[in-house]
Amino acid sequence: MRLHIPDPALVLLVGPSGAGKSTFATARFTPTEIISSDALRGMLADDPADQAASAEAFRIVGILANGRLKRRLLTVIDATNLRAANRRRFRQLAARYGIATVAIVFDLPAGLFALHNQRRPDRVVDTEVLADQTERMREAMTDIRAEDYAGLFVINDTTTLDEAVIERAGSSGQGATTKSQADERS
Ligand code: CTP
Ligand code: MG
Repeated sequence: MRLHIPDPALVLLVGPSGAGKSTFATARFTPTEIISSDALRGMLADDPADQAASAEAFRIVGILANGRLKRRLLTVIDATNLRAANRRRFRQLAARYGIATVAIVFDLPAGLFALHNQRRPDRVVDTEVLADQTERMREAMTDIRAEDYAGLFVINDTTTLDEAVIERAGSSGQGATTKSQADERS
C-alpha cells in the first residue's frame, strides 16, 4: 500500500494502544517530525503511562504542532486520537496555516491490539483500558469517514502495517524532489 501524503501535512495516527502507531511512525518519519504524547508524558513524569501528566502533555503537543505547522513542516501526531473533538482541534490548527490533514487509521483486529500489548517491552496497557479504547475505535471508524481529510488511509491487516510505504508529494505536485534526487544534487 502506498500512502500519498502532501508535504507539508499534518498526519494524525488513529488507533488504540498496541496498534503499532509508534513503531509505524518511527520507521517512516524522522524523529523531529513525530510528536508523541507518550514521549511527552515520559519527559514530564518519567512515566509515559502517567495519565495525570496527560493534560500538560497535550498542551505541549499543541504548542509543538503549532510551531511546526507555522513553519510549514510535516508533523505527525502520535497519540491514540480516538476522540472526534481532539481530531477536529488538530484539523483546525493545520487549516489555520492552510496545511492539509491526513489520517492514518489502524483498524486492526482487536485481538492484535491485545497481542501487541502483551509483547511490548516498555509498558503493558490495562485490559479494561484497552477494551474501552477498542470500543471507541469502532465509533471513531464511523465518525472518521464523515470527517474532512485530504487523505484517509485505513490499515486493516498486518501485511499493510508492516509494508505500507509513505510517498511524499510537495504541495506544488509535480517537480517534488525525492530524497535520492536531493542526495544526487548535493
Ligand atoms: N508490534 C509488533 N509488530 C508491529 C507493530 C508493533 O509486534 N508491526 C508490537 C511491538 O512489540 C510493540 C507493541 O506491538 O512493542 C506496541 O506497538 P507500538 O508501536 O508501541 O503501539 P502504539 O500504537 O504506539 O501503542 P500506544 O498507543 O500505547 O503508544
Ligand atoms: Mg505509541
